[in-house]
Amino acid sequence: MAIRPIVKYGDPVLRKNAEPVVEITPEIKELVADMIATIDDAHGLGLAAPQVGVSLRIFIVDLSAIDMLAEPKVFINPEIIEKDGEHEYEEGCLSFPGIYQRLVRHARIKVKALNENGEEFIMETEGMAARAILHEYDHLEGILFIDHFSAISRALVDRKLKRLAKSA
Ligand code: NI
Repeated sequence: MAIRPIVKYGDPVLRKNAEPVVEITPEIKELVADMIATIDDAHGLGLAAPQVGVSLRIFIVDLSAIDMLAEPKVFINPEIIEKDGEHEYEEGCLSFPGIYQRLVRHARIKVKALNENGEEFIMETEGMAARAILHEYDHLEGILFIDHFSAISRALVDRKLKRLAKSA
């Protein structure tokens, strides 16, 4: 298990449409274990494989930073099968250090995915968990949270974004 460096805004891997996982190989299991170590180290709520430079449809959601009882949850080849309602809350992203923004997302979702053993599960959730899953799902589509900002919010962080992209 190793902590992997987190890719920052400006790296083209963050804009790719990630590839489905075809088989749970030892390499995939190692990647998942490394992602769990990485998110724990960074105290993040979510981490998608493209954020460690791997363009595959895998993400981790770990709400233990806000809920002591939460365990990291692995989503492989996820599909959002239902979504409804609205929920607004402040959001950040490990690939955008120092940038936070209140965003409206769906309040409730139903998601289908494979776990780290390749077993399918369906999960219905709401609030922060739903927000984290939707944010991480976007990463697999090459969509970043700044894409949801209003024009004014985006203009306000423009200089920070240029600085991040330059150091990526
Ligand atoms: Ni993110």
